[in-house]
Amino acid sequence: MSETAEALSEREFDFTDRHFQFLRKMVGDHAGINLGEAKRELVYGRITRRIRALGMRNFDDYCRLLETAPDDEIGNFINAITTNLTAFFREEHHFDFICETLIPAWMRYGGRPRVRIWSAGCSTGEEPYSIAMTLREHMPASALGDVAILATDIDTNVLAHAEAGVYAAARVESLPRARLQQFFQRGRGENADRVRVVPELQQLIRFRQLNLMQDWPVKGPLDLIFCRNVVIYFDKPTQRRLFARFAEKLAPNGYLIIGHSETLYNVSDAFELVGRTVYRKSH
Ligand SMILES: C[S@@+](CC[C@H](N)C(=O)[O-])C[C@H]1O[C@@H](n2cnc3c(N)ncnc32)[C@H](O)[C@@H]1O
Repeated sequence: MSETAEALSEREFDFTDRHFQFLRKMVGDHAGINLGEAKRELVYGRITRRIRALGMRNFDDYCRLLETAPDDEIGNFINAITTNLTAFFREEHHFDFICETLIPAWMRYGGRPRVRIWSAGCSTGEEPYSIAMTLREHMPASALGDVAILATDIDTNVLAHAEAGVYAAARVESLPRARLQQFFQRGRGENADRVRVVPELQQLIRFRQLNLMQDWPVKGPLDLIFCRNVVIYFDKPTQRRLFARFAEKLAPNGYLIIGHSETLYNVSDAFELVGRTVYRKSH
């Protein structure tokens, strides 16, 4: 028997093309996420867990729930489908860009600059906390009074984790010792294998649930948007609309940072490339 046939025969629940196409359309319409054919197994595995958690009998029941009472389940459905991989100081060159180029520009008149940063698709928070650490390390505390980071995600589970700021110690073990000492508190007793970010980082960040496909209650103008490793899941027309909206929210000469496998080429001409996946709004 081939591996796929074996996997299919061992399935606990019947999962047909009709189920997959329905769930795929649902996640596309609601979250902009474009699930390719290769994601069938992922969808099966993740929704199977929801079916069990809800005590349902099969995929028919689950699809019916999403169709007839979407408000009851859509949040859990989206939480189950999103991919939340992230890390502290992921793509470190982006943080170098902040301290080498942006902070000197923001601080050119000294004092307390007004700086607004958005981490859009922040997952479990490593990205906004890395931004906050960079600011704390390279700006005087007295200059941070009017600096704010907005961190948003569609997925309420990852957002709750981000807001709590508690991580497995293994997730921070590659950070330099000075950073660890300054920004993380080690747990005690049964929490000895965990760390918590210090309040000085949390003070700089507001966490909010936000679906990038819907309205954005975000006050501009923004100086910097991080939207990394999010649009890889969107189709090109969705990316075009999203980047046009980002350009509207940015201040003149504001910056947009995207993920290593993403590009604005053929997607937006509102930005110019000024570094590795770093863009400046051009008009
Ligand atoms: C792979 S993570 C990227 C995390 C972080 N930006 C990084 O690069 O390390 C992608 C995040 O985008 C979020 N996301 C996906 N679709 C979204 C949407 N329509 N609106 C807001 N967030 C979305 C997911 O929930 C997930 O947490």
